Parts: sequence; structure tokens; C-alpha cells
Amino acid sequence: MTVDPTVDPTVDPTVDPAQRAVERDVTDRTVASFATAGSARYREVMTGLVEHLHAFVRETRLTEAEWAHAIEFLRRCGDITTGTRQEFILLSDVLGVSMQTIAVNNPVGAEVPGDRRPTDATVFGPFFVDGAPEVPVGGDVAFGAKGVPCWVEGTVTDTSGAPVAGARIEVWEADEDGFYDVQREPAADGGRPPTQGRGHLFSAVDGTYGFWSVLPASYPIPHDGPVGDLLAAASRSPYRPAHIHFMVSGDGLRTLVTHVFVAGDPYLATDAVFGVKDSLVLDFVEQPAGDAPAGRRVEGPWVRTRFDIVLAPSPGAAATSGGNG
Ligand code: BEZ
Ligand code: FE
Repeated sequence: MTVDPTVDPTVDPTVDPAQRAVERDVTDRTVASFATAGSARYREVMTGLVEHLHAFVRETRLTEAEWAHAIEFLRRCGDITTGTRQEFILLSDVLGVSMQTIAVNNPVGAEVPGDRRPTDATVFGPFFVDGAPEVPVGGDVAFGAKGVPCWVEGTVTDTSGAPVAGARIEVWEADEDGFYDVQREPAADGGRPPTQGRGHLFSAVDGTYGFWSVLPASYPIPHDGPVGDLLAAASRSPYRPAHIHFMVSGDGLRTLVTHVFVAGDPYLATDAVFGVKDSLVLDFVEQPAGDAPAGRRVEGPWVRTRFDIVLAPSPGAAATSGGNG
């Protein structure tokens, strides 16, 4: 491929044309090696990957020592990765690649009027556990987690404003010490630590839901490995602002993976994984001791918040109006 440095922004005009041709040739031959791949999508993705990786090397004039350092970094990511510690996802998170993938796959739908806009998505994170217990609407997913009692309520609707009955609402969160249950010591028999701060419920016929839990705390992402070193080298904080994770699904609707964040948290502007969106920052309003929702009496202060959830139609499916239970 011939390259015109005046049109190709990835070409450094200070690099000698003969040298440039050598560099371009390496890229072209690598791209060509994927030309006969059976799947057009595979070809497209691999061609893009090669073009961007090679452009990165050419533009930064990457040194061999830097390349070796990067390879050693990836080796360390592999070494520390286990079934429960996924350093490569953490790397994707702190490089903003996870949030960029979410942005690409969750169109903002700007044409939908204000409160009917689908709720913003954010990162999944590593602490979801399949099979967390079901609680009824008004139930408590804290299961003894430490923290100020917290009541969360809202509605689940589709983008037409129709209530979504029977939406499955999975929630999980860190306790007031900033730990998820799975980060606690294993049970006495060596099994999983007891379930705390997680569970699922189903929205009622009118699309409403509500549950008790605890006020979450901010916490650092795992930073005792290579990703932690990367953050430290950039003087970046490993902290995430306090949040409660949600995964909400309903028939014919796009499954939403998101969080709600606690307004006023000191790490909102510096979330290590770039997950904060203004629409997801909620007031958790302090309440006095006494009678509280779902027939509960709380002895000390507690907090409450409201999170109304709008689910987008599944790709290829029209939004349904109700009847999703
Ligand atoms: C989390 O919020 O649970 C999380 C997200 C990304 C990386 C680490 C933790
Ligand atoms: Fe989290």
C-alpha cells in the first residue's frame, strides 16, 4: 500500500520515506495474512487490531526495551490471573476499554424524551456471583453485611413508559468496610464465605420494586498486582466511589448492567475504572430512627434512595408495553 503522509494522520512526516515504506510493509503483510480468514467479522476485527497496534508502535517510536517491558507486564497479568482474580479485565477497566465497549454497545438513544431514555450502563466488575438468593419486594439483601441500613426503591419501565412486571433485579455491593462478601475469609469448611450484600428480586405487577441493604462504601480495586503498579506509576488512585451494582433483565428488553453511586462520594471524579455517569449519581438521604418502609422499624439512622430504571428494547425487538412477567 502506498502512503501519502499528507493524508494519513498516523504517518509521522519526519520519518524518512524509505523507512516509512519498510514500516508500512510490515503492517500490510500482517494484515494480508488475515485476508483469507473464513469469517468477514474476524477479518474486520483482526485487520483493525493490527492497523491500530502497528500505528501505535510507529507513532510512539516504541523502543525495544519498552516492548519487552510491556510483554513482561502481560506475563505478570497472566501469572496473577486465577478463576477468581482476572487481571486482564482489570487492565481493560483501568485503560477505559471496558467503558468504551459499553459505550459502543449501549447507544444513548438521544431521540427518546428525557425520563424515557434507557438507563445508562456501566462496568460489570468482578464481584457478581450467580445464584444469589431471591428476596421478595421489600426484602433485605444485606444478610448481615455491616453498614447503615439503606432502602432502595423505584420502578422498572420500558422506553414507552410502560411498567415492566417481573423484571429480574440482581444487586450486589460492598459493605461499610469496602469489601464484597467474596473477598472475606472462606467459611470454616473451606467453602465460599457467607452470602452478604447481594441477592435478587422481581419487580411487582406495576413495575415497582424496593429492597433493604446497607449504605455502600468506596473501596480500592485489587491493586496488589501489575495493574496496581500501572496505577501507581501514573499516580492514579485505585479507589472506586461507593456504589450498588444492578443487573436488570426483562422479556424482550436489553439486559442492563449498571450501578447507582452515592452523591458526595470523594472518588466520583477519579473512579479508577471510569464507570461514573452523572445520571447514576443519586442522593442517599439520611432518615431518623423509627418506622421505615416494608414494615421495618430501624433503631438508628438509615438512608433511602430512589432509582427508576428504564430498559431499552432488545436489539431487533420492538419495545413491549407491560406483560413481561
Ligand atoms: C466493581 O465495581 O466491583 C469493580 C469494577 C471494575 C474493577 C474492579 C471492581
Ligand atoms: Fe463494585
